Amino acid sequence: MKKFAVLGYGTVGSGVVELFYKNRAKIESKAGSEMELGYILDLRDFPDSPYAEKFTKSIDTILADDEITVVAECMGGVEPAFTYLMQCLSRGISVATSNKELIAQKGAELLANAKAHSCNCFFEASVGGAIPIIRPLHRCLAANEISEIYGILNGTTNYILNKMLTDGMTFEDALAKAQKHGYAEREPSADVDGHDACRKICILSSLAFGKHVYPASVYTKGIREITLEDAAAADALDGAVKLIAFVKKLDDGRILPAVMPMFVPHENMISRVDGVFNCIEVCGDAIDRAYFCGRGAGKLPTASAVMADIIEAVKHHKTVFSQDWTDAGTQDFIAGIDELVCGMFIRFAAEQDAAALCEKLTADLEGCGSYEADGISAVDHAALITFPMTKAQRDSLLAKLAESGLTVAHWMPVMEA
Ligand code: HSE
Repeated sequence: MKKFAVLGYGTVGSGVVELFYKNRAKIESKAGSEMELGYILDLRDFPDSPYAEKFTKSIDTILADDEITVVAECMGGVEPAFTYLMQCLSRGISVATSNKELIAQKGAELLANAKAHSCNCFFEASVGGAIPIIRPLHRCLAANEISEIYGILNGTTNYILNKMLTDGMTFEDALAKAQKHGYAEREPSADVDGHDACRKICILSSLAFGKHVYPASVYTKGIREITLEDAAAADALDGAVKLIAFVKKLDDGRILPAVMPMFVPHENMISRVDGVFNCIEVCGDAIDRAYFCGRGAGKLPTASAVMADIIEAVKHHKTVFSQDWTDAGTQDFIAGIDELVCGMFIRFAAEQDAAALCEKLTADLEGCGSYEADGISAVDHAALITFPMTKAQRDSLLAKLAESGLTVAHWMPVMEA
């Protein structure tokens, strides 16, 4: 019999408990052992819960029980989660966490501690909710040189953008609905301002490229500036506005991670991933590209990934199975956003005649650096898309547009199809 504990009885933690009792026979058969939920740690009281007798407010109760094999951490935040998990790992207790903030900040230390004590630190639920991505990236794609990862990694913002476009819902109403569904973070600015997606791309970058990528080193911009006009213009140009988290490997071996709203052409299936769904594109030298899609947030979808990690930890008790990455030499490894070469989606301030606009731009843009007018692949809704440019070329183009009296309402990078 293998005993486990759950830290945090919020959306995800209560989902883990619910899923365990719902599918217990199946879970035990997959784990190859009978299992028992020993404790639920939470500072709140749940006197009416059917599991009331399992609640404890002290990690020491759990640490003192020699029968505990795995601890699932669903509390969120760096502390006290980090201290608790380090204490577990130091005693040889494996951990399974859904906590992206913790792994993005402290992953290297936790993984090293797991290795040192012959146990595992699993974090499948920390990126993409229900989507299997950590284990596939670490194991199934292990033979590849990864060149790029692009993804919708935040369900709340994808849900909001989608509701604004399809239902004409206001930003505030869409956010309130996402919160009601249990998708949003306790502090919704973590979703809206891109920090949640940033933590997740840090985890994927660290895993794919072997060096810890800290959130502070990643350019991050959220969706607050996106308007219905942007969404409609993107739609008219055969694409969609999505909050994209990405990391690209540069020719010199450094990586460029970032989070920002991007125009995604409909040729790329990511543009059609709506609602709370996430989608991650991984490009590797052997696979070309692979896509991983599914529910990126929510109680049972996220609990599914945590429970899978618990099963894995039970099955591989005393075997080091989790991945790790180094915390050394990371300083010169990250390129800044100014090195990004990308096309531009430009929307002008007022509705203008598309043909006249195109003609004016063609005239204005002649001699604008290496910009060529025929790089404009589409013009509609007083918006256009350019071919890929360096920052110097982008600045030059924007200056030229300003000189010619055209007011740019908003521009955003174009994701390659
Ligand atoms: N707030 C997160 C999201 C939850 O919306 O994707 C899952 O990490």
